Amino acid sequence: MSETWTTVASCESVTAASPKEVVVGEHILAIFRYQNRLFAIDGMCAHQGGPIAEGEVAHGCVTCPWHGWQYELETGIQTINRQPLQRTYEVRELNGEIQVRL
Ligand code: FES
Repeated sequence: MSETWTTVASCESVTAASPKEVVVGEHILAIFRYQNRLFAIDGMCAHQGGPIAEGEVAHGCVTCPWHGWQYELETGIQTINRQPLQRTYEVRELNGEIQVRL
């Protein structure tokens, strides 16, 4: 894992009601704020590439808007088969910026 943190958004641009899709190099990430914590997870669904950042969040899981696969925000585990299908990333807030470590 890289030691480098990359700024992907301003803190105020990601709210509980408004997740954000960001592109970092060849990565597409979905950034969520849920219960006052940030989460960064692969932005393309492992099923058929649906936009995870557009999914509904409940009970710590995001539901892909295309066909309803659900993933834990913390682990990327798909809730039916319990496999870690979506990669997750370290994310932090620093000086008004959201940063991820790829
Ligand atoms: S593309 Fe996400 S559930 Fe099908």
